[in-house]
Amino acid sequence: MQLLDGKILSQKIEQNIAHEVKQLKLVPGLAVILVGHDPASAAYVNMKKKACDRAGFYSVTHEMPEDISQDAIENTIIMMNQNPNINGILIQLPLPSQIDTTKILELVDPSKDVDGFHPYNVGRLTTGLDGFVPCTPLGVMHLLAEYDIDVKGKNCVVVGASNIVGKPMAALLLNANATVEICHIFTDDLKKHTLHADILLVGVGVINLIKEDMVKEGVIIIDIGINRTLDGKLVGDVDFDNVSKKCSYITPVPGGVGPMTIAMLLSNTLKAAKINAKERI
Ligand code: GUN
Repeated sequence: MQLLDGKILSQKIEQNIAHEVKQLKLVPGLAVILVGHDPASAAYVNMKKKACDRAGFYSVTHEMPEDISQDAIENTIIMMNQNPNINGILIQLPLPSQIDTTKILELVDPSKDVDGFHPYNVGRLTTGLDGFVPCTPLGVMHLLAEYDIDVKGKNCVVVGASNIVGKPMAALLLNANATVEICHIFTDDLKKHTLHADILLVGVGVINLIKEDMVKEGVIIIDIGINRTLDGKLVGDVDFDNVSKKCSYITPVPGGVGPMTIAMLLSNTLKAAKINAKERI
């Protein structure tokens, strides 16, 4: 069993980005909207801000109260769309229930949509065109490539069908010529599907969802879950201690997919800065 180390790879990617930023004399700018006081969301945003600082990016976080209005968020996005110092716009999800999230995501200028959540970029991804790709699944593809794992023709089973992880993950794998199956909360007999996975990718947020008897010998596992146990430990969706014995490769949690997500956010923001700079010439 070999660990797929996202910590080391993300550090390498971040260093390359910091180097490129210095050479290009660009200051990519990222604006983040954080609504409410969810500790997990606040922690993610803080990690994103720190990564921006390390890479020499400009970043600004707009913290808004839980009871913020739709109009107030929309007006902030309109300002960000027009601000030439902002290349990337990120709305930390989830948003409170009074907010129409779809409308918010559709308002972000697609050329600044570094999360890849605008339907324009979703459409480009599903048709295999260049665009902004959601950071977590993009990070997974980089991690697989780093370890020379070719998904072409492999049975890839994605557990979780969210717009943030599962659906774009499946699209990327399909674009890379994998055979893709998507399982979700209504899937009958999950084990029947996971057992024939060459590569199993799981991102649902359920501790120990994937157990030893649900995978075949030699499977490659990408654990995209991030959960906190009652005693405060960070774990994924896979029963790591027991399942890892059967794996050829597996991502640890923490230190697997998580740091790759942040590295991909920097990469997408640099890409946006380059596009915006060209448009201005
Ligand atoms: N909430 C959980 N994951 C993400 C993510 O990747 N991006 C944003 N914007 N919000 C999230």
